Amino acid sequence: MTSKLAKIKNFPTNPVEFFKQLLQAATEGKPAGYLPEMNLATVDEEFGVLNRTVLYRGLTKDNFLYYITHSYTRNCKNLKANPNKAGITFYWTNVKDKQGRESNWQVRLIGATAVELPESELDAMWAKEDLAAKIRGHICPCGQPIDHDELKAKHDQFLQEHLASGKPIPRPDTYTAFKFEPQRWDFLNVAINEIADRVQYRLQANGQWESMHVST
Ligand SMILES: Cc1cc2nc3c(=O)[nH]c(=O)nc-3n(C[C@H](O)[C@H](O)[C@H](O)COP(=O)(O)O)c2cc1C
Repeated sequence: MTSKLAKIKNFPTNPVEFFKQLLQAATEGKPAGYLPEMNLATVDEEFGVLNRTVLYRGLTKDNFLYYITHSYTRNCKNLKANPNKAGITFYWTNVKDKQGRESNWQVRLIGATAVELPESELDAMWAKEDLAAKIRGHICPCGQPIDHDELKAKHDQFLQEHLASGKPIPRPDTYTAFKFEPQRWDFLNVAINEIADRVQYRLQANGQWESMHVST
């Protein structure tokens, strides 16, 4: 039996750069177009907190990560009601570093504020959605009880009409996206038989990031 202390070395001064480096390592070998999942926690009026898996869609021009949703979901409603109370977690296993060491990473955005992206950016995002996602955006009442056969009939009819029309599926008004502006980024690294190390970046009043190792 062995035991070691993990140590995160040579991390960049900017947390988004660190995130990008890790994301690249974590998604190496994945097919083109692969989108990593992240867990998004929000404040919910009924349940207090509510979390769910969503897809990480990339970084905005001003370097904040964003995701896409619909206005009828609870995640969207929750973010609109409590925009400055969001948390995000990524967990990546067996990530290889340049020396070939395999380890696991948890990346968290703590105390994040969600900012809805402007309408002008949505068309380009909608154009990249796959067909199933486009149809879902039109026919699915998120979170409502459904009858599978009824929904299937609705789906098949929508698909048939779409194929017959030869026209693109319009972006529904419900389609939207949010970016997240965190107060802290937290990176945890651990491998087998190790005690994890964490590096935390804390946003200072002057807009700079202060970074430090924190205990696991
Ligand atoms: C792999 C995966 C990816 C998902 N991606 C998204 C997403 O990008 N946006 C989204 O609103 N829901 C996504 N969902 C569905 C959510 O997890 C959730 O079920 C749905 O948004 C309803 O959440 P709510 O309880 O906040 O309304 C995804 C689910 C899975 C399993």
